[in-house]
Order: sequence, then structure tokens, then C-alpha cells
Amino acid sequence: MIVIMDFGSQYSELIARRIRETEVYSEVISYRTTAEQLATLNPQGIILSGGPNSVYDQGAPHCDPNIWNLGIPILGVCYGMQLMVQQLGGQVERAQRAEYGKASLLIDDPTDLLTNVENGSTMWMSHADSCTELPTGFEILAHTENTPCAAIAEHERKLYGVQFHPEVVHSVGGLALIRNFVYHICNCQPTWTTEAFVEEAIREVRAKVGDKRVLLALSGGVDSSTLAFLMHRAIGDNLTCMFIDQGFMRKYEPERLVKLFEEQFHIPVQYVNARERFLTKLEGVTDPEKKRKIIGHEFIGVFEEESSRLGPFDYLAQGTLYPDVIESADTNVDPQTGERVAVKIKSHHNVGGLPKDLRFKLVEPLRKLFKDEVRKVGRSIGLPEEIVRRHPFPGPGLAIRIIGEVTPERLRILRDADFVVRDEISKQGIYHDFWQAFAVLLPVRSVGVMGDQRTYAHPVVLRFVSSEDGMTADWSRVPYDLLEIISNRMVNEVKGVNRVVYDITSKPPGTIEWE
Ligand code: XMP
Repeated sequence: MIVIMDFGSQYSELIARRIRETEVYSEVISYRTTAEQLATLNPQGIILSGGPNSVYDQGAPHCDPNIWNLGIPILGVCYGMQLMVQQLGGQVERAQRAEYGKASLLIDDPTDLLTNVENGSTMWMSHADSCTELPTGFEILAHTENTPCAAIAEHERKLYGVQFHPEVVHSVGGLALIRNFVYHICNCQPTWTTEAFVEEAIREVRAKVGDKRVLLALSGGVDSSTLAFLMHRAIGDNLTCMFIDQGFMRKYEPERLVKLFEEQFHIPVQYVNARERFLTKLEGVTDPEKKRKIIGHEFIGVFEEESSRLGPFDYLAQGTLYPDVIESADTNVDPQTGERVAVKIKSHHNVGGLPKDLRFKLVEPLRKLFKDEVRKVGRSIGLPEEIVRRHPFPGPGLAIRIIGEVTPERLRILRDADFVVRDEISKQGIYHDFWQAFAVLLPVRSVGVMGDQRTYAHPVVLRFVSSEDGMTADWSRVPYDLLEIISNRMVNEVKGVNRVVYDITSKPPGTIEWE
């Protein structure tokens, strides 16, 4: 295992992902972890992340100075390298010219850490401070035009530092460097594979749960589907999968999901049809926040009723992923300010999220995984691509894409319109070109003409966006021809729609969803 000590870089998580791409397990831990604690974790290597501070700032995060003598190889990245230099007696100063963006790496020692990294490789820099004097025993492995110490090493203790960010995709030789560190310097073996994970997760679940009963709320997404499969492999019939159909899923989705699980995976699903109940609660409600609250509240109500009907259960299986674990860890809090060190904005929680005081104990076998690793596991166990790479879909479902009141008729219109979008982009093989692509139904009506008939019906908004993480997004520049086909199909195939418009707002200032 490689541990990443987090000094507040927005890239700490990315470093962990890159390491795992080399099939070596990695974890992000607090910079305050002591040398003694580190020794117990017994990592094969340590990476010190970047961070927003200057090592000379008052209250800047420092690590336990005993870590340098643990005999474990260490790679400091940006702030991590400056900290290494400062703590070991070198000099770090404000650089004459801050360096942001791409720089060409000029290699002085093409062996060791920089084996297979081409001279002149583009590396991504982001620093205002620079090392001006190295501690005794260190030597320069590479420099750039502006930075004399771009990569450094003290071979005896296997201490390394890089001023650039090898983890970001713009750093061309970055992955080669990471592989050198992981395989050749730390002597790690590529054991973090999907198969190994599945085996270990099943073993752990069995050890934890024994012969107790476990409840799992299936949602149709990749996380809960993968979770269900793993849990079923581990404990068989002691698992009860419950799928609550609140009525706001996409066309054919509930049926397909139940069929997939029961027929292909032979995992029984308790299907709870709560459609009427949710619709009744939403009667006359138009305020977006109220809608969300009602749906969330109702979900918990149904969940509690159904779980006591089917129970008792000892455990609840939850699809918590590694980013949630990192985010909720209070270890990343700055001791001076009490603030979290990594600045992150939490994405929406699924309304399926349950209150903490529920009486179940939790079993969370995916908590070590990043989303892309869940997809890999999902794929390896035979989940179809339509689940593995499904666009994000909000917990309240189509209800928050119907602006205004949700009625059975308006739900039918949007469900059909949504189907046209998905069907068309899937047929054209461009589904994965978008972060999300969907339809929104407006509460207004406009005049149109079809045949010789005047129509007075609803407009549908098409919302196609590209995004990395849903926090920011850009509207997609789709070809006019695609818009034309979708518009034609929608007006012809979806009764109640006579106009189609395209949303050209990015986020910010817009949000991806309309409610
Ligand atoms: P917004 O609309 O805030 O959405 O730009 C950002 C991303 O989050 C998804 N989203 C949700 N996901 N439960 C979820 O699980 C929700 O209540 C929810 N609301 C929005 C949205 O689809 C987009 O990907």
C-alpha cells in the first residue's frame, strides 16, 4: 500500500487514483498522522501531497519530522517537496516568477525516478515558492527553465521530491514517474485488481455479517447494483434487496432492473410499488424545494415500513464510496483554524440517503473504491453497460424535471420525451459523449400547428451538458441535425408536446437540473 498524506491539495484524491491505476492500493490520510502511526499502517511508500499554503505560512501544515527516518520511501509533490526540503535543512523561498501551467522538464539524471520519462516532457506546474538550497545529501534530478530544482532525490533514504504535479493528465511523463516510484522504488506488486478486490470484499462481508440478515435498497444505479451483486455472492439468501419504485424512474427502467436481477443474476428483488403514494403527496405542490423534501421524506417512510414488514434486519448494506469516506473524515481539519484542509464542495446526496439514527448497523463493502473502480467491478460481474455507464440521475428522478406540479399525465409526457432523447443518442452511438442529456417539461403552453389543426401544448427543453464532476458544466454544442431529429421525433411521438427548445446555459450560472 502507498499512503498519500494530504496537505490540502485538490489533487490528493487524484494521486490515490493514479496509484490505483498501477494496480497498487493507496489511501489518503491526514498530514497529522505520526511516524509511529505510519509505521503501524506499514505502507511501502508515502506520498506527500501538494497544498495551498507556503511552508513558511503561520500555521502551515507540517508533518512529523520522524517520518524521514522511517526507512519508507517518500515522494513529496509540490508543497510536499518544499516541506521535505525545509524540514531537512534546505531553503524554500518565494520564486522570482510563479510558475503555473505547462513546463518542459529538462532531465539531469534519466535513471531512478525519471526512468522512461522523456527529456523535454511537458509537466504541469503550479507554485509560487521554489527550493533555492537543497538539504545535505540531496541532488537535482531535473530542472525547468524557471525552476532549478524540479525533481530531487536523496538516494540513501529514498527521499524524492517533484515540484510539478505528475498526477494530472497534462503531465505527459507523469504516469511513468509514478510507476517508477511505486514499482521500482517502493517495490510494490500490482495486486490491487478487480478480482482481488471482489474476493477480499466477499471475505470481509462474511466475516463481519456472519449469518445475520442484511437489507439493501436498490436504486438502479451502478453503486447499488454492484453492491447487491457482491453482497449476494457473500451471503446469499440472507440478503434482501428492496427496490422502491417512487414512480419517477425513466421509461422501462424499473421493469428492466427487476428482470436483470431476478433472471440474469438470480437475486430476488422485493419490488415496492409506491407510485400512487408519492403522486398523492405531490398533488398541488409546485415549489422545487418542497417537492424534494416531500419525496425524500416519503422515501424514508416507505423504507421504514417495508423494512419492518420484511425484517427484522441486523445490517443495512450501503454503497458508500471512497470519496465520501475521505470527505467525511475529520482528520483533514486544520488544527489552527478548525477548517477542513481540502476545499471540497459536497455533491448532492441522493434522496435515498437515510437518516443516521436508523437502527441498522452498516456494511459498506465499496468504501475503498473510487467511482471508476466501482464501474470496473460492475463490469467484471456482468452488469450491462447501460447501468455501468448510466448518466447521473437525481434521486427525486423525473419529478424535478417536471417544472410545476407533477401529475400522471405530465409524468407520462416527460417520460416519453426522455425516452426519445436517450433512444436517439444511444442509436447514434453518442450517449457517452455527454455527462447528461435529458428533457425538461415546462408548465407553459404555446400554439403550434400540426396537419390542419391548431395545437396548444407543452414545450420540452433539451438539456445536454458536458462536465467532469457535475460541479461545473458547459452546455453541449450538439449538431443541428441531431436537434432536428430529436425535435421531430418528440413532437410526433410524444402526445402533448408541440415545441422543443435547447438550453444554452452553463453551470454556473445555471444548474444542470432545472429544479
Ligand atoms: P445541479 O442541478 O445541482 O446537479 O447542477 C448537479 C448533479 O447532481 C445531480 N443531482 C442529484 N443527484 N440526488 C442525486 O443523487 C439529487 O437530489 C440530485 N439533484 C441533482 C444532477 O443530475 C447533476 O448530475
